This record gives sequence, C-alpha cells and structure tokens, in this order.
Amino acid sequence: MRPAPQALQPGGAVRLWQPRFVTLSHPPILETRTLRWPDESACAQFAQALAARPALREATIELRGELGAGKTTFVRHLLRALGVEGRIKSPTYAVMEPYTLPGGGTAAHFDFYRFEDPREWLDAGFRDVFAAPGLKLCEWPDKAAALLPLPDLRLAFGVLDDQTRVVQLEALTPRGVALLA
Ligand SMILES: Nc1ncnc2c1ncn2[C@@H]1O[C@H](COP(=O)(O)OP(=O)(O)OP(=O)(O)O)[C@@H](O)[C@H]1O
Ligand SMILES: [Mg+2]
Repeated sequence: MRPAPQALQPGGAVRLWQPRFVTLSHPPILETRTLRWPDESACAQFAQALAARPALREATIELRGELGAGKTTFVRHLLRALGVEGRIKSPTYAVMEPYTLPGGGTAAHFDFYRFEDPREWLDAGFRDVFAAPGLKLCEWPDKAAALLPLPDLRLAFGVLDDQTRVVQLEALTPRGVALLA
C-alpha cells in the first residue's frame, strides 16, 4: 500500500504541494479599480451605471465582504436598475433567487453563506443555471468555491463606518474588463 505523503516526508513537506493549488485558484487579475462610496446613494449610482452596460446581462459577479457590508444592498440596486419590481429578497435561506428581467434575459442571485453540501448544488439545479446565459450574482462565493466558474468581476466590500464603503473591483475576464471600462 502507498504510504501517505506525510509519512514519506514529515513536517513541512505537505506544504510543498500548496503553491500548485494556490496558482490554479488565483487566475490573473486583468484590471482593478477601487471605489469609495460615502453613502448608499453612491452604491445605487454605481449599480445604475453597471446596469446600463449590455455586457452585464451575461456576467458572473462575485460579491465579497463581511456580514452587513452591503452585498445584498448592491444587488437590490442593480436589479432595480435592470427593471425588477416587487420585493427583492436576500437569498440567505433559499440560496438562490431567480429573476426574469423586463428588458429580456434572466438574473440569479445566490447567497452561499449557508451552503454546505455539494449535492445541494446538483439537486437545486445550480449547475444548469451557471451553464445557461444570464446574470449571476454570488454572495459568499468562498462557501461554494470549488463549484463556481471563474467570475467576470469580483467586488470586495470594506466597511469604513456606518455609511462609507470601500469597494475593490477586480476584472478576471475580458467581459469583466469591459464592465469596468
Ligand atoms: N454605502 C453603502 N453601500 C451599501 N450599503 C450601505 C451603505 N451604507 C450603509 N449601508 C447599509 O448597510 C447594510 C448592508 O446590508 P446588506 O444586507 O446589504 O449586507 P450583506 O453584505 O449582504 O450582508 P450578508 O453577508 O449578511 O448577506 C444595509 O442596511 C445598507 O442600508
Ligand atoms: Mg447579503
């Protein structure tokens, strides 16, 4: 029987494997931008500008940041700007909320905070959602990292005070670059 790698090379040897995975899980960042939102209206303004870009309708966007940072708030402003009416619920429990956009196309808002079992992924048909065209917005993507495709854009929300947010934008694909242009 093959011994475990740890048994062959005790101690730090296992760490030698890590750089390969680190390299694979960090694709090149093609472009970055940092925004400072002094209040929620600045968040709404950015959402409106992004919604006006045709490339958005096929984009996959990751939203990172601590609890209460403003991820769902941003998604609400974005979906409103895309013409969604009625209640826009946080998908904290449902994991996914789907939308039909009045201008054509679809959007899916995910919150993977409570996501635990990859079987849930298949059972809920998430793979099909990601394979199909449409806007995908993913809160807490780290909780389902291995199952998610490379996003076009990553937004990382930092909280400065009650109202102020610093948002780092990273484009990971040409579509992401187009969204930041
Ligand atoms: N500049 C701002 N941009 C966005 N939200 C803001 C801003 N200033 C204050 N807020 C408030 O911060 C709160 C953000 O809550 P939200 O539910 O959007 O956070 P979240 O990042 O989705 O958290 P969770 O990880 O729990 O899902 C809202 O009450 C919103 O009104
Ligand atoms: Mg949220």
